[in-house]
Amino acid sequence: MIYFDHNATTAVDERVVEVMLPYFRQLYGNPSSLYRLGRIARSAIDTAREQVGSLIDAPAEQILFTNGGTEANALALASAQGKRLWISAIEHPSVFENAHRRAKCFQSINALEVDTSGVVLFEAVEEQAIQAGDFVSLMLANNETGAIQPVERWVDKVKARGGLLHTDAVQALGKLPVSFKRLGVDLMTLSSHKIYGPKGCGALVWQAGVEMQPLIYGGDQERGLRSGTENVAAIVGFGKAAELARLELDARIKHAQSLRIYLEQQLKTISGLVIFAEQSERLPNTVQFGVPAVNGEMLLMQLDQKQIAVSSGSACAAGSEHISPVLAAMNVEATLAKSAIRVSLGKDNTQPEVDLFVSVLKTLLARN
Ligand SMILES: Cc1ncc(COP(=O)(O)O)c(C=O)c1O
Repeated sequence: MIYFDHNATTAVDERVVEVMLPYFRQLYGNPSSLYRLGRIARSAIDTAREQVGSLIDAPAEQILFTNGGTEANALALASAQGKRLWISAIEHPSVFENAHRRAKCFQSINALEVDTSGVVLFEAVEEQAIQAGDFVSLMLANNETGAIQPVERWVDKVKARGGLLHTDAVQALGKLPVSFKRLGVDLMTLSSHKIYGPKGCGALVWQAGVEMQPLIYGGDQERGLRSGTENVAAIVGFGKAAELARLELDARIKHAQSLRIYLEQQLKTISGLVIFAEQSERLPNTVQFGVPAVNGEMLLMQLDQKQIAVSSGSACAAGSEHISPVLAAMNVEATLAKSAIRVSLGKDNTQPEVDLFVSVLKTLLARN
């Protein structure tokens, strides 16, 4: 099988599986227990916290483990309750839907405009429009188009007015250098399963001084901000995946970038094919494209029959006939948006796989 959907999820790295296994078998202690088995589990969590911290250049004690990116985003938004919230239409549903379904919890929800290249417009909001205490949530890189967002510039703008900035860095992690310290954001969301770690694990990184509101109360784990017995094996796996991502980051970026450039050269030989957000700076592994009058969902299923896994956009939207809200926000014409296919490459993909994909794609398009 050719797996080209690494923005949806990744296979757990064998080296990650290896370090997780003992925590299912011999080292099954509850990290809150005071005896040795518990202390071993506690210390494994501490190590993972250091490993994740090293990947994003953040102090370990500012990393809070959650059950994934969705929960970390919800926890970040919980600290925006009662405030004026600013978000764009290209945010992941775990931010966008969560915010809009809980609209009553915020003083107001204000939209950040997106340009046709999939980037949130820096000029869309005057600095003066941001008020002290406002909460801005702006992702670091978009999951569909891969477009990288100007978070660093927004931090200055928001901070200058006394606001808070949260960034969803789920897609950027392990694909770009990400420094919590250098970015200067107040909150950052991470997820393990996009970086060859296990599913069901993530983190919210927070700047000391940010007032946090727990979503779940109970045993006061994670400094009382995320109650519930820790998923020790998954946290250990996330830590190891973070360590590997840090050590292999340059090589992974180079590999993805060269494969993506190669893929795009081939795609451009297909008549009428449009690469979305082509003009913007994008994740090295991501290309989303459309071919007018082609049904993207159908093409995805035909590729699946040929043992090729791609996405039509956000994994959460798979199976639905909806036009991607990301492409809609970019003003992509509806029939073109419906043809969208996203290829997201991973560390183990190869050039022959790209060749085979393009050749199958051309055959299918000629048939449609
Ligand atoms: C940008 C972004 N944020 C958040 C999430 C949710 O992360 P998780 O699957 O760990 O809940 C995803 C997953 O697709 C994502 O792409």
